[in-house]
Amino acid sequence: MRIAVGKPIVELHRVTVYREKTKALEDITVTVRAGEHVAVLGPNGAGKSTLLKLITRELYPVARPESTVRLFGRKRWDVWALRRRLGIVSHEVQRQYRDHVVGLDVVLSGFYWSTGTWPHQAFTPAQQERARQLMARFGVGALSTVPFSHMSAGEQRRCLLARALVHNPDVLILDEPTNGLDVAARFAFLELVRGVMAEGKTVLLVTHRLEEVMPEIERVVLLKGGRLLAEGPKDHLLTDRWLSRLYGVPLAVVQANGHYRVVPAGGAR
Ligand SMILES: Nc1ncnc2c1ncn2[C@@H]1O[C@H](COP(=O)(O)OP(=O)(O)OP(=O)(O)O)[C@@H](O)[C@H]1O
Ligand SMILES: [Mg+2]
Repeated sequence: MRIAVGKPIVELHRVTVYREKTKALEDITVTVRAGEHVAVLGPNGAGKSTLLKLITRELYPVARPESTVRLFGRKRWDVWALRRRLGIVSHEVQRQYRDHVVGLDVVLSGFYWSTGTWPHQAFTPAQQERARQLMARFGVGALSTVPFSHMSAGEQRRCLLARALVHNPDVLILDEPTNGLDVAARFAFLELVRGVMAEGKTVLLVTHRLEEVMPEIERVVLLKGGRLLAEGPKDHLLTDRWLSRLYGVPLAVVQANGHYRVVPAGGAR
């Protein structure tokens, strides 16, 4: 399937990022265009979440003349204006929700990029309607008044997906969004993401599971030890050779139904 790709929306050019004393990313250059979907893969600590935080402006690169971060074509942003164009599902966001916050408030809080709603935050009937519609679409319509802590992990994650999309952003950022979900809940969640892709939003997915690199994702970014090992078309990089290099162990890639899976190289003993 061909994706009609548009203007660059994420342009990282030669960025280096420190997290305290750790060099989390080094000399990274990556471009993502509107309408394309990209998976970021790599071992623990490779810098995947750090890369996403550059896009959400939670982290900044070391200031160097050659180093730039351009988002939606611009270097300078009011962070709140930028975040109106981004939606995110991550463990960090999930962890910040207090147990008692009910489903509808989880979703509404996305309008403010907050993690709960407050009395001073007014929501219009149209905003409330939008939140309810998304909850219904994602199969959590009955959870408006149910506290977050009473939901299953799958329900929580679908509420968080609705929260990420409630303000109709251009880009959906997913950092290991299916961690801890059973296989049915994982695939159900990914089907919802495919529906979001079909609406024309750009999706950036960080995952440790190759089978989550769905057919719509055409490009992958391979990070290792803070360095860009490779980036390019999925069919060039999701190979035995590249994944074995990425993880430093012999691996074999299997393809089925447009999905990929990784198994230990060498087969049965
Ligand atoms: N809050 C932090 N303070 C200091 N160092 C950090 C912090 N968060 C991450 N790091 C370091 O930055 C590097 C990159 O971390 P990052 O979280 O981006 O990796 P990741 O690829 O997302 O890993 P994982 O797959 O485990 O989520 C690691 O060496 C990590 O130890
Ligand atoms: Mg991470």
